[in-house]
Amino acid sequence: MDPRNALSIKDLRRMAKRRLPRILFELIESGVEDEHGLSRNEEAFRQYRFLPRYLGDISDRDQTATLFGRTYASPFGIAPTGFAALLRNRADFMLAEAARAADIPFIISGASAAPIKELAPVAPDHIWYHIYPAKDKAITTDILRRVKDAGLSKLVLTVDNPVYPNRERDTRNGFTLPLRLKLPILLEALTHPGWIAHYLRHGGMPFLDTWARYAGEGKSAAEVAAFFRSQSPSLQTWKDIEEIRRDWQGTFILKGIQHPEDALRAADLGIDGIIVSNHGGKSFDPLPSPLETLPMIKAALGDRIPIMMDSGIRRGYEALIARCLGADFVFVGRATLYGVVVAGREGADRAIEILRKEIDQSLALIGCNRFADLNGNYLLGGGQHSEPHGIPAQAGKACHRDLVHH
Ligand SMILES: Cc1cc2nc3c(=O)[nH]c(=O)nc-3n(C[C@H](O)[C@H](O)[C@H](O)COP(=O)(O)O)c2cc1C
Repeated sequence: MDPRNALSIKDLRRMAKRRLPRILFELIESGVEDEHGLSRNEEAFRQYRFLPRYLGDISDRDQTATLFGRTYASPFGIAPTGFAALLRNRADFMLAEAARAADIPFIISGASAAPIKELAPVAPDHIWYHIYPAKDKAITTDILRRVKDAGLSKLVLTVDNPVYPNRERDTRNGFTLPLRLKLPILLEALTHPGWIAHYLRHGGMPFLDTWARYAGEGKSAAEVAAFFRSQSPSLQTWKDIEEIRRDWQGTFILKGIQHPEDALRAADLGIDGIIVSNHGGKSFDPLPSPLETLPMIKAALGDRIPIMMDSGIRRGYEALIARCLGADFVFVGRATLYGVVVAGREGADRAIEILRKEIDQSLALIGCNRFADLNGNYLLGGGQHSEPHGIPAQAGKACHRDLVHH
């Protein structure tokens, strides 16, 4: 499949669907319970339109974005996606290489087959490490040490999956960890010979290298995956976050924050940044779309720490909408996964290229030279922001006014 034939992320998605067995394509696509969260994420973007400014000089467009004192070439990065190697062997390496070439961050999932020590040198300045804390704290401490020793300085911890979510579609499909190719699954997979040949050629079930040493010597990929499941998810509290904050000298980011008071608490604890996210609809179905909570969080935090977001981005202009609502930076999960499924590194490059071009074009079409300069003045729509109990009434309403002046 030639990723250059894809004009949009949706085209890459269609191509990825052809390449993958249904059980794995749906692993990417699935949400939780009745999957309202998936459509909510997309619909949230549809509520906004841009109010364009024409005839200004837009010849010098700039989509760079600065986070933690470092400027990235684009205002988006690659979100962590566990078990990417099931979709394509060495997928995480390909994503890391693509991120480095494009000068954007890539968050490696703690449920990855890529050995930290081998992956880190591929893009030491672009890889952020997403940690799955283990039930056994000694394992968490050891993983943190290995991440630091590998030269990585940015740590991400996801807070929105305190227990394993209700992924009914995956369960219905017969998805298990480790992956078992039972007869009906195998028969369907055989209609995607490219993937089957690739999977078998590379040894089948990926080996979760990070976890292997804790599972015990000589364990199979399936046994290591089962061990990982026995250790994660592990319940985390603010006290645990405080401890990790004390132990980790580098940048520390919480992913999945949705409540403004949690955002404030994180900032008070010395957390360096948050990613407002509902896990791409994969955590709990009635969670709000991050676009609904971003304005409240921006109103609460102001410029204290960077606010990032993910969930639902398929078009470059959606990054602009998030920016107008208070995000400094966005992440994409599925978009770059589709690319890597379709054509490995080249496919990941293509996904990034599509988003980057769309961002540039969108800036031109609304008459804004710099992504960083976007604010609420460029947006129309959005309806009403609901305000949870206990949040000051001005929190939601102040957002547009604040953004105009920031
Ligand atoms: C296949 C897949 C695996 C994921 N694995 C993880 C993970 O290991 N840790 C995590 O914090 N988020 C994980 N996510 C969520 C993403 O990091 C991100 O929040 C989400 O994909 C963003 O939404 P989008 O896919 O609509 O861009 C995963 C998402 C997908 C699609």
